[in-house]
Order: sequence, then C-alpha cells, then structure tokens
Amino acid sequence: MQTLSIILFGVGGVGNALLRQIMEQREFHRAEYGLALRVVAVCDSNGAVIADSGELDNAVLGSILAHKESGGRLRTHAQGGPQGDLVGIVDIAGRDGAVVVDCTASDATVPALLFALDRGYKVVLANKVPLTVDLDVYHAITRAGATGDFTRHLGRSRWETTVGAGLPVIVTLNRLVASGDSVARIAGTFSGTLGYVMTGLQQGKLLSEIVREAYDLGYTEPDPRDDLGGVDVARKALILARGLGWKLNMRDVTIEGLYPPSMDELSVPAFLEAVSQLDADFQERVQQAAAEGKVLRFAALVEDGHCRVGPTVVDADSPLGRLSGTDNLIELTTRWYTPNPLVVQGRGAGVDATAAGVLSDIVELAFVE
Ligand SMILES: NC(=O)c1ccc[n+]([C@@H]2O[C@H](COP(=O)([O-])OP(=O)(O)OC[C@H]3O[C@@H](n4cnc5c(N)ncnc54)[C@H](OP(=O)(O)O)[C@@H]3O)[C@@H](O)[C@H]2O)c1
Repeated sequence: MQTLSIILFGVGGVGNALLRQIMEQREFHRAEYGLALRVVAVCDSNGAVIADSGELDNAVLGSILAHKESGGRLRTHAQGGPQGDLVGIVDIAGRDGAVVVDCTASDATVPALLFALDRGYKVVLANKVPLTVDLDVYHAITRAGATGDFTRHLGRSRWETTVGAGLPVIVTLNRLVASGDSVARIAGTFSGTLGYVMTGLQQGKLLSEIVREAYDLGYTEPDPRDDLGGVDVARKALILARGLGWKLNMRDVTIEGLYPPSMDELSVPAFLEAVSQLDADFQERVQQAAAEGKVLRFAALVEDGHCRVGPTVVDADSPLGRLSGTDNLIELTTRWYTPNPLVVQGRGAGVDATAAGVLSDIVELAFVE
C-alpha cells in the first residue's frame, strides 16, 4: 500500500469539500490505486489540528468539519491549538514526507510551500497567489523536483485548479508545451460572474441592472468590484503566460475592469448606484460589436508576449463568441491547433469540482518520486 501524508492549509469552501472527498473516496483509492491518504494536519488562519502520531482519522476530520461549519476556529477545536507558523507545522507534521495542500487565498503560505519543497515534499495549490507573486517563487514551485532549470511542470508540484477550477486547463497547456508545440495565442474567460454579466449585456440588459441582480443573488463577492475589476482573471492569465515560459509579473498584465478607478473609493451601496453611469457606454459597445457580427466578452488574452484582461470584441462564431452563461472556456491556438483552436470548456468554479481537481492532483503526486 502506497501512503501519502497530507498537510492542509485552509479549510474554507474548498478545503472543507476536499476533506469530505478524501473520506468518501478512501475505499476507492485503496481498492483501485493501492493508495492510503493520511491527513496529518489541518490549518485555518489562526489555528491548527495536528495528529500526535499516525493520522487524523475520520472521526476527528468529521469533528473539524462540524466545528468549522458552525463558525468555529481550529484553535478552539478540542484537539486544536493556535498556529502562527506554517513552516513549523510542515516541519513537525511532515515527518517522513508529505504533500502540502494550499487551499487558502493568502501569500502567507509561500515560505511554508518553499520549505516543504526544499525538504523534498510535494505541493498542490488551489491558491493562485503564490504563483503570481515573484517569478522566482513561481519557478521554485513549478520546477521543484524537475531536472535543472530547464524541465518544467514534471516535478513535485501541481496547480491545476488555479485556472478554471477542476477543468483540465494547466495540464492541457503543459502537454502542448512539453511536446514542443508553439502556442501562438491563448484566449479565455475565467470568471463565472463576469460571464453572467457579459451574457446579460448581450441579452440587452443594462450593466447596472445585471450587476445589481448578480449581487442580490449572491453571485458576486460581497464587494462586486472584486469580480468586476478583473484582478482575479489577471492572475489566471499570468499563470498561463508564465506556463509558456514568459517572464512576466502582475504589473505587466494590462487590466481593464468593468468600472473606472474613480469608483474605487465608493461604499458598496454607492458603487451599485454609480454603475448606472456606465450603462450607455456598454450598450453602445455591445451594439457596435453586433453591427460587425461580433460580441463583447470579458476575456484574457495571452499573445505576442503580452497579457491583457478586459472587455474584448470577439467573432460571434468563435468558441468564445458562442459561449453563454457562467462556464469558463479556454481557446489555445498553436502550431498544430490552427485555424481551429484546442478548446476546454465547462464549469470553472464550485467547491466540489475544485476539491475534486485538488484531490486528483494529490493522487497523481502520490506516484511521483
Ligand atoms: N471556491 C471556488 O470555486 C474556487 C475555485 C478555484 C480555485 N479556488 C481557490 O481556492 C482557494 C480557497 O478558496 P475557498 O473558496 O475555499 O476560500 P475560503 O472559503 O475563503 O477559505 C479560505 C481558507 O483559508 C484559510 N486561511 C486564510 N489565511 C490562512 C493562513 N495564513 N494560514 C492558514 N489558513 C489560512 C481561511 O481560514 P479561516 O477559516 O480561519 O478564515 C479559510 O479556511 C482560493 O485561493 C480560491 O481562489 C476556489
């Protein structure tokens, strides 16, 4: 039986779903893969539960889930305590090797991820932040365990769910890169909320009307500007560009959000009111595109050494142009995939689909030296 110890950072939506799926799939992984996944530590933002010896069994994991679901912090869990040092937790709980799974949205995990890789452990990220800070950190994570500086993506790390959640986006890109195919253009939509907004615009609704509706239905972040500003999409575009070997940083990504910087300082209610000032402009852009047989999408474009994120006019008859609703979609135009691009499309968010993608990364790494 192959065993792999898991240290989990973050037990919010995705971390919670991951622990459930690990428990649910235990028998399947034993029977079909000869694999036993042992959770040895679970951390939230200021607490942790660490196995004294052995692992946190289903009874303890179940109690952690119940504790978090009732609004508790791990420091107040019966077997929990404070945590201020993720490196120390990897040091103590890692013992004879482990995979560190980052389901936070924080940069505070970076030292612990690098420490784990330095120790020869493995890492899986749902968290985009470590891959979009310094290029050195990106390289240290994505090349860990690979030979020299040259071989990428084949080592002790996986980050499939950082772009398109459970969709096989990173693996698809990496396979193209590994074959020597040249990727000329990546175009994609990577936000369900922005997909919802652009679909509404195309149906003739006003921007202010759609944003209010999405906000009221809970489809947006508590501050809708966190979606509409496009920064999250820009992080995804940067991860893809870096995956092509481009030495870009966040400041190199051109971001055009759906609202101007002058609305940054408004309160949320004032912002929701002010959006109506943008209605006429967006109506005109949609109509202008339609007159040319095109449509407006909130797209990420990675092309000719540049990364751009924002409202983009695309052919109505292209995969991106035909997309409607909240799905994510990526078009990869390469030497071998032209003129028709390679396309991956589907649900690009959701804690269960994302946790399943993380679990798949973990299982894959269990069989990597
Ligand atoms: N949700 C999705 O559909 C989806 C899809 C693809 C990728 N992702 C990515 O997956 C990650 C997790 O998403 P989520 O929806 O699960 O977020 P979430 O519900 O906000 O959970 C985040 C978790 O991280 C913990 N955390 C924050 N800072 C920490 C630190 N310094 N050390 C240890 N734990 C820390 C939080 O602790 P507390 O519980 O104490 O607050 C919380 O448990 C994010 O990076 C997100 O972008 C999410």
